[in-house]
Amino acid sequence: MRAGVFDSGVGGLSVVKSLKEHKLFSEIIYFGDTARVPYGVKDKNTIIRYSLEALEFFKNFDIDIMIAACNSVSAYAINELKQSAPFAISGVIEPGVLALKNKTDDKDASILILGTKATINSGRYETLLREYGFNNITSLAPSLFVPIVEEGLFEGEVLETVMHHYFHNLQEPDFIILGCTHFPLIAKEISHYFPHATLIHSGEAVVEYLQSKYSFETTFQQTAIKFFASENPDKLKQTAKTWL
Ligand code: DGL
Repeated sequence: MRAGVFDSGVGGLSVVKSLKEHKLFSEIIYFGDTARVPYGVKDKNTIIRYSLEALEFFKNFDIDIMIAACNSVSAYAINELKQSAPFAISGVIEPGVLALKNKTDDKDASILILGTKATINSGRYETLLREYGFNNITSLAPSLFVPIVEEGLFEGEVLETVMHHYFHNLQEPDFIILGCTHFPLIAKEISHYFPHATLIHSGEAVVEYLQSKYSFETTFQQTAIKFFASENPDKLKQTAKTWL
């Protein structure tokens, strides 16, 4: 099986990492729209347009599935992608919600959704969670986390201050959905802040989802990954070396 992984930039590497660790695919084609990142502050129509352009790129490859690792794309463009794609499409929102559902039967469990403005404004996580009966949901867009992660500040004073800024008047939730590709990279620090909360990571969730939906007869010895970017692919490859 071959997969295309699409993200607005480098953040989708957090999903590639999980796919690679579980050896689900013989090959992954990664495309990061680095020239136009961030998507999380853009409106629905722009995100749909960019996503359909990325789909055209992936049509040049012999892939079985395209995974929209970007939560903002999953929030706004998943139906449009499904309608136009000649291969299977997976986002990360449904997998994330199913991963949470598999972890608890308690519909009153308190859930904190963290995402970009686009993801939070779309209400996709919240709607799906409510469809499964969860009713104790808080949504938050800690937008400054994205540039902080891009800057490589995965721990330390800056991150701590910003976390305090966003979290200080919240009660510790039972679950936190890391609804943005960048947030798994600061998961350790988020767990320090909320030590009893269970974190839901898009990468792990999508692996669980794909394994339940498709029959993977073989796990491959290793996954070959090709990296493409709309701007500065060398920088993306460099980041991939560090993150993966
Ligand atoms: N990849 C985006 C997401 O998961 C975060 C970065 C951006 O805003 O483009 O929503």
